[in-house]
Amino acid sequence: MIIAVDGPAASGKGTIARALARHYGLPHLDTGLLYRAVAATVRAMHLDPTREADAVAACSFDDSLLADPVLRDDETGKLASVVSVHPLVRAALLQRQKRFANQPGGAILDGRDIGTVIAPDADAKLFVKASPQVRARRRHNELAANGSDVSFEQVLADIRARDERDSGRATAPLTQAADAAALDTSSLTIEAAVARAIQFVDAQV
Ligand code: C5P
Repeated sequence: MIIAVDGPAASGKGTIARALARHYGLPHLDTGLLYRAVAATVRAMHLDPTREADAVAACSFDDSLLADPVLRDDETGKLASVVSVHPLVRAALLQRQKRFANQPGGAILDGRDIGTVIAPDADAKLFVKASPQVRARRRHNELAANGSDVSFEQVLADIRARDERDSGRATAPLTQAADAAALDTSSLTIEAAVARAIQFVDAQV
């Protein structure tokens, strides 16, 4: 069984994908981490993230980087959405994601283009969404809990900018696959969102 989970930043897709992986006993790949690793490598090597050749050079990162906490920070997320625009960066990461999706026994992947590009034949597809305000509120609470004093307005502006870049790019833009079930988490608790996601998957397989 292959499960594809897509959605914008802070929609809850990562939390839902991890819970589904536990529920169905499937290996899980957070594909955003791959783009975050490219971003962190671009930064470490002082490369220009807007230059495709520079971003491609950063795609041969060491796998140990995937466990580095630096990948989780907001700056790396923003930079990831800049490097992920380049078609050659997406191509460099494609086979690895397809291999993970097609491993014997199945898998669950979350990202922006899983249901549309990486695993178009997935058995179940979810598109997780929430309003920009709700997503900014979640992200702002998270940042404040970690001691950041960034304003809510700034976080909301960042979320909108990231949405625009991810949805507006020419290659593999963030979009709901025609056969994906939409799950709006705006007014759901994590538990309720996970329960709904399991219902959606069970109904599709
Ligand atoms: O999901 P996460 O916030 O970690 O992703 C960081 C960035 O990586 C996204 O904003 C997006 O630009 C890019 N990404 C992508 N395709 C994916 C996963 C992430 O373009 N499958």
